[in-house]
Amino acid sequence: MIHYQTEKETGKLWLCEKEFLPEYEQKTESVFAQCNGYLGVRAAHPFSLIEEQRGMFLCGAFHKAYEDEVTELVNCPDITWFQLEADGEKILPERASLTSFERKLDLFSGELVIRYVFELSGNRKIAVENRRFASMEQKNLFVQALKIHILAGNIRELKIKTGINGQVTNSGVSHFHKSVARVYEKEVMEIRSELEEGTVIEAVKCKLAAGLLLEKEFSLKRRSIYGTYVLKPDNGLAALEKITFVNQGENGITADKRKEALHAACATGYEVLFEKHQKRMESFWDTARIRVEGMSQEEEAAICFAQYHMIGMTPWHTNECSIAAKGLTGEGYKGHVFWDTEIFLFPMLLYLYPKEARRILEFRYLGLDGARKKAKDYGFQGAMFPWEAAKTGDEETPLYAALNIHTGKANKVWSGIKEYHVTADIAYAVEQYRQAANDWDFMEKCGYEIVFEAARFWVSCAKWDETRHQYGIFDVIGPDEYTEHVDNNAYTNYMAVYCVKTALNYAKTLKQKQPNIFSVLDWKLGIEKELGIWEEFVEKMYLATPGADGIIPQDDTFLSKPCMKNIAKYKTSQIKQAVLLDYSREEIVNMQVLKQADVVMLLNLFPHLFAEDIVKKNVLFYEGKTIHDSSLSYCAHAQACAAIGAMDLSWEFFQKCLVVDLDENPHDSTDGVHSASLGGIWNCLIFGFAGVRYENGVLYLNPHLPNRWKSMDFRIIIKGVQVHVLIEKKKITLACEPETSTPIQVEAKGRSYTLEKVLEIEG
Ligand code: BGC
Repeated sequence: MIHYQTEKETGKLWLCEKEFLPEYEQKTESVFAQCNGYLGVRAAHPFSLIEEQRGMFLCGAFHKAYEDEVTELVNCPDITWFQLEADGEKILPERASLTSFERKLDLFSGELVIRYVFELSGNRKIAVENRRFASMEQKNLFVQALKIHILAGNIRELKIKTGINGQVTNSGVSHFHKSVARVYEKEVMEIRSELEEGTVIEAVKCKLAAGLLLEKEFSLKRRSIYGTYVLKPDNGLAALEKITFVNQGENGITADKRKEALHAACATGYEVLFEKHQKRMESFWDTARIRVEGMSQEEEAAICFAQYHMIGMTPWHTNECSIAAKGLTGEGYKGHVFWDTEIFLFPMLLYLYPKEARRILEFRYLGLDGARKKAKDYGFQGAMFPWEAAKTGDEETPLYAALNIHTGKANKVWSGIKEYHVTADIAYAVEQYRQAANDWDFMEKCGYEIVFEAARFWVSCAKWDETRHQYGIFDVIGPDEYTEHVDNNAYTNYMAVYCVKTALNYAKTLKQKQPNIFSVLDWKLGIEKELGIWEEFVEKMYLATPGADGIIPQDDTFLSKPCMKNIAKYKTSQIKQAVLLDYSREEIVNMQVLKQADVVMLLNLFPHLFAEDIVKKNVLFYEGKTIHDSSLSYCAHAQACAAIGAMDLSWEFFQKCLVVDLDENPHDSTDGVHSASLGGIWNCLIFGFAGVRYENGVLYLNPHLPNRWKSMDFRIIIKGVQVHVLIEKKKITLACEPETSTPIQVEAKGRSYTLEKVLEIEG
């Protein structure tokens, strides 16, 4: 069940919190966070609250505080705090009596609106409204407005204190070793906060928007700077706009330029700045909007919520950072980048915003040296991409997990060492991109090298298995993290072979058709002499096949392990990872129990790998053993079940993945939204329900619409052509926008078609 309410008005779709609920504070701060790819601000109240976890995160602003700590995305000085006094009486939601409240986020424009009505002493009453947005039009700007309306009684003076608070930490860890604050021209407050790797500069200017300014004064505290503005209400109204310019380092933007930008933004004012930002947001939605006839308003809001956050977490401005497991909405997972990005989030970018998809892959290219180093450190060749990445290609996974509360000891985290598959996932994304975006320039500049280096890694980690007389990949963790140290994880082996096969194809074609490019790559990487071993790897790598019962073994030992008898308890548990309270890690590893989709992920990525009945059997078999303790699991199963036509089950999982961040559990999402799951919602809609697949130049459509849906309408971009897809119960309509000169081959309902302008497929 969705915890938040939804409201619709022309051009707006609000996610609302209508009650003042401090126990949901941290969750709501994440869920309503506002991000523009450059900066992300949690949706904390303007007023202090004990339960708050304020946060602002900048894409790529990482730091490692101590030698034995992990590099993390730094929580930057806060700009959203305000203090308000009415004739000396402090206004705090927990203190003054709050008679009405709402906090709501418009998913289309990304504007956050918080409204309070307070009853004060002496029968006085005021309404306070706080609006804000992270500008998509000017990435450095965060814009806020605070308006106070006197509803009853007389108030002579309103005192508003606000500024930049650098007394912030990441759960107690302080990152900035130095902070310098100052005021320019008696109106611009600025803090420069220093990390070893760079500086975060925040400059703020406040503008009077209603009322009379009686007094203004600035004050410094350790690592913080504030302005206090005393306003006399005019006709019962006083308002202040606060514009913040945030920048990482100077980057050519001098103090003068920052001031200029702030003066200009203040002169323009909130409303016009917002209009400009909204136009930019509209252009995202023009491409991204998925319209479904027959869905509820809650479902629509949850889908738009997923896309809202995906738009906000995408670095539109750079290839020097990527998308974190929590985007820019919280401290969770230290702001690190996982396989979540290439496998769960990348598809929407690829099919809607291919230029940004390219940047995500370029980020991995820029990290190749780190990945090469990791491979070398572990005795492999090529590039072994980090399981968790921060700003570079270096491995950032912590070696130990949080302390066990009873033993005080920490469990070792094996993922950084053994979860190899991320290297194949990245190569898979490169190949998906090449096919759908047809971007050979990218291949030449980055793509070939990523795929070749990934292939070398796989070949170097294969070992000959005397019993099978085949190669194997040993001692790994597949996507299911409740199964550690296994041999021949099916997902890993298939992905590895796909990677090496792809590399081999490219190498052979280049050698033949573009020898100049091949020799440059060979000169750089020395791959020619290795092509023979690559070939042998592809031919002789062990790939699990379905047994007599049709089941593909997840790894060499999985099917021989005992089943977990009370698995139903954990499948239905409201508490995530409750199984870890009853069993030790070792016990879990030695049982047939999955944290998340594993073989099912393989079937999602390669829907044509096995016959339909095998796919069906395996999806159902492995679902029975999965407790969905990872947020990546529901969306994967919703997609897989749709693909096999198990629509009831698919619907059940789809409903669950829609509310991963929106459900009633106040303890979920407190440290940020679940990016992969949000991406997985799009994948389920497009690859699962609409049955879209673009492979080797053919657009496959095999829709399975949920029963209660009448139609689904969306866009995808293939080879630069925007295709408008309308799926109805008995008809598929495709239209190219604009008409294309390169026809697209389509396969649907068992027949082939050519799409040039409009194509209607009945039946
Ligand atoms: C999942 C991983 C995922 C990570 C970050 C873990 O709980 O098991 O598959 O990459 O979270 O979202």
